[in-house]
Amino acid sequence: MSRFNLSIKNWKRLVFILCLIPLGLLIWRVLTDRIFGDVINVMIRDVGLWGMRFLLLSLAITPIRKLSGWRFLASFRRMIGLYGFFYICLHLLMYVVLERSSDMAEIWADIVKRPYITFGMASFVVLIPLAATSVNWMIKKMGGRNWQRLHRAVYYAMIAAVVHYYLLAKADKSQPIIYGSILAILLLYRLFGFLRNQWDSRKSAAA
Ligand code: HEM
Repeated sequence: MSRFNLSIKNWKRLVFILCLIPLGLLIWRVLTDRIFGDVINVMIRDVGLWGMRFLLLSLAITPIRKLSGWRFLASFRRMIGLYGFFYICLHLLMYVVLERSSDMAEIWADIVKRPYITFGMASFVVLIPLAATSVNWMIKKMGGRNWQRLHRAVYYAMIAAVVHYYLLAKADKSQPIIYGSILAILLLYRLFGFLRNQWDSRKSAAA
């Protein structure tokens, strides 16, 4: 990191600001009337897509770190994951307040009748405990192993999120398929890591 002349702390500040750019751009587009068509729908879709991107990026950090040897990347993982959750909270808030005018009966009807909303909500529900346990004292309290076990659930949340995206995309399914393929690669990477660990521990037990 030193060759970039920035300390990790300053890199974190920079990444923190960079992650706010999509929201800033969206606000700017809304305030300057640069959105054509259904503004609320565009807003919901925009923050939903950024939530998906940040969450996938946070999952990609460990494989990229291991393959590249760039250990400093680990410092950004949690922040990017929490940003993903933040964008999804905005996504949900916009849907509840702007699209459904906080009408709980309508929202419940959507959850029950529209499978893409059911999957979106399921994904969100899984993400809540993960975000809530992402503070240092919680990680300490739970212990590293339990924390890691719980946080594996992020893959279930992401599978539900990709299904949510796939179901809501009407004619062109190429985007959800691309995001789904990225998730599949990340899942396969983890699976290979798990199988290799099993193999190694069996070998050392037999030796
Ligand atoms: C919290 C529950 C959720 C609700 C109620 C919800 C609702 C919606 C709605 C109403 C749309 C627009 C559908 C349309 O235009 O017809 C949408 C799109 C989308 N949502 Fe969600 N969603 C939820 C969770 C999630 C989660 C957890 C993710 C990802 C991690 C996500 C990612 C997306 C994406 C990528 C789109 C489409 C963006 C695009 O077309 O560019 N949503 N969602």
